[in-house]
Amino acid sequence: MDQHILSSTGVKIPKLFYGTAWKEHRTAELVERAIKKGFRAIDTACQPKHYKEPLVGRGIQRAYQLGLKREDLFIQTKFTSIRGQDPNDIPYDPALPLKDQIHNSFEVSKSNLNTDYLDSLVLHSPLETWEDTLVAWQTFEEIYELGEVKLIGLSNCYDPELFASLYHEAKIKPAILQNRFYKETNHDKELRAFCRENDIFYQCFWTLKANLHILESEVVVELASRLDKTSAQIFYRCLYQQGINPIIGTTSANHMDQDLEILNFSISDEDCNRIKEMGPY
Ligand SMILES: NC(=O)c1ccc[n+]([C@@H]2O[C@H](COP(=O)([O-])OP(=O)(O)OC[C@H]3O[C@@H](n4cnc5c(N)ncnc54)[C@H](OP(=O)(O)O)[C@@H]3O)[C@@H](O)[C@H]2O)c1
Repeated sequence: MDQHILSSTGVKIPKLFYGTAWKEHRTAELVERAIKKGFRAIDTACQPKHYKEPLVGRGIQRAYQLGLKREDLFIQTKFTSIRGQDPNDIPYDPALPLKDQIHNSFEVSKSNLNTDYLDSLVLHSPLETWEDTLVAWQTFEEIYELGEVKLIGLSNCYDPELFASLYHEAKIKPAILQNRFYKETNHDKELRAFCRENDIFYQCFWTLKANLHILESEVVVELASRLDKTSAQIFYRCLYQQGINPIIGTTSANHMDQDLEILNFSISDEDCNRIKEMGPY
């Protein structure tokens, strides 16, 4: 089975991403391990409060010793506005105008990740005003037009109207939406439909933590036992088949193996639909 999807502009996006938040001093070791085990896409952010981006870069450097090249990896980072940063540890000059903060942050990311381009740059969340969100997006478009990033996207946008407005306003369309996958937003049903219609790669986090009711449901537990898999594998596989791409941030080598194994088995549509009803999503 193909482990990539193609963006509307022809960029290959691996379906399984390794997430690097909250790994602290273990970040380099875990990124290296994830790549050695088979992950080819890495999600990070220029936000020292939650991500050690320089250590992500170090883990990637070590993985190159396996013979991998830069183009074998898909590296995604984020611009986080001042509101999402630790005020004592902002990785760019907060006194600059927003546009320059973004360019500054992007340069820091490239340096942290030892690369002269990123595969994807994600706006960590819409800004406080629509005007600022547009300024941020137009700055992303400038970086895109300089050829320094292949795809641009948005995260933590739970308002379908806002997302559609940005999509329609944008010269370079959002190619990625990265959101929390949980009941409180109806699992982004409307947003996911919009993403499907417009070739936008939908990726999610909080996938296991926020959906224990699905993982513990009789449907998932029974299927896991029947297929000799864990509940997490069943749920991840089912989402993957439905075009919902979980970012996996495990710290366990065993879980890394199990999560990569979801590429090697399948679940019937009927069973996937039964799991979907457990969300419901
Ligand atoms: N855009 C945003 O605002 C945002 C916010 C949050 C996260 N993210 C991204 O999403 C990534 C994932 O974060 P997350 O909050 O969804 O959760 P996560 O870091 O993937 O955590 C999953 C939790 O489930 C446990 N787990 C149990 N079985 C597992 C299995 N088979 N596979 C994986 N985990 C298993 C893990 O424990 P073990 O470590 O013991 O496996 C861990 O405690 C982050 O690293 C980050 O890149 C983005």
